[in-house]
Amino acid sequence: MKTIFRGRHLITFDTWTKQEIDTVIEVALELKRRFAMGEITEFLKHKTLFMIFFEQSTRTRNSLEAAMTQLGGHAHDLTADKMQIAHGESPKDTAKVLSRMGEGIAIRNCFYNIGNKYINEIAKHSDIPVISMQDDVYHPLQVIADLMTIREYYGQDLRGLKVAVSWAYATTHAKPLSVPQSQILLFPRYGMDVVLAHPEEFPLQKEIIERAKKNAEVHGGKLTIIHDMDEAVEDADIIIPKNWGGFAYFDEYVDDEEHMRIMKENLERHKDWILDSKRFSLAKKDAKIMHALPADRGHEVTDEVIDSENSIIYDEAENRLHTAKAILALLMGGRV
Ligand code: CP
Repeated sequence: MKTIFRGRHLITFDTWTKQEIDTVIEVALELKRRFAMGEITEFLKHKTLFMIFFEQSTRTRNSLEAAMTQLGGHAHDLTADKMQIAHGESPKDTAKVLSRMGEGIAIRNCFYNIGNKYINEIAKHSDIPVISMQDDVYHPLQVIADLMTIREYYGQDLRGLKVAVSWAYATTHAKPLSVPQSQILLFPRYGMDVVLAHPEEFPLQKEIIERAKKNAEVHGGKLTIIHDMDEAVEDADIIIPKNWGGFAYFDEYVDDEEHMRIMKENLERHKDWILDSKRFSLAKKDAKIMHALPADRGHEVTDEVIDSENSIIYDEAENRLHTAKAILALLMGGRV
């Protein structure tokens, strides 16, 4: 078990060793047990986390704020428009000033081609840990909760587990690429057989695919890319039906009206990419349904399927709290 984390940033788990990731899960399981017993776990007494949201959030905002309260500290729930960021204050000045006042900075910025760069710029100048609460490339806080949930259901040895990470139709908004990208990077490191399915016009980023394939090669997992949702679901142990935008379809993405128009046109051709009970029947009998949420019910997945006994979405959402507490306790507190 790795024991020195204090002061590190968390922007992607792809730069963390498996031993470090395993430690996070072990600490999260321990904190979950203590939470169930009603025990006090004030590892971050009087410490402050600054959370800066450029977008909406239910799970991330509330899991981190509750985590800080339960760890004995406090989280500032900030939005970019509440701060001088809105008037163009530089990432350097923002990072330096917050570093003088608290123990951690967490940021959600999912703007395509902007978010991850912004968070890295803050991290470069910060003297305290910087945590991505999701950007355009990665969502580390989601994928660690996913891994913990999978371990709770399937145990430590996840080799050969077939996980279908499938694109699905949605009308709500063009969701970021960061959840599926984090999943295809991490799951093959644990030997899982990941099948990524999407229509041709909704690829993930090329460099992420390359790295995910390398992760699979090194760690004995698999990554297969197909363009058929039925084939992805067939014999799957876990199905993750989720929309993402067609940002990576363009060689150079510019968030202009023309790109948005093409994305919308492409989207409307794939309304049949939904996890309904007929399609779900192709999976293994006891297959599980996961979703980072929010789900676009009736478009990504039917109520019947997502509310069925095979669905583990609320366990997955609850584990956002326990994994967030583990990460905050290790990065902002922990051994000196
Ligand atoms: N899964 C997830 O990150 O949810 P929120 O957008 O509500 O934080």
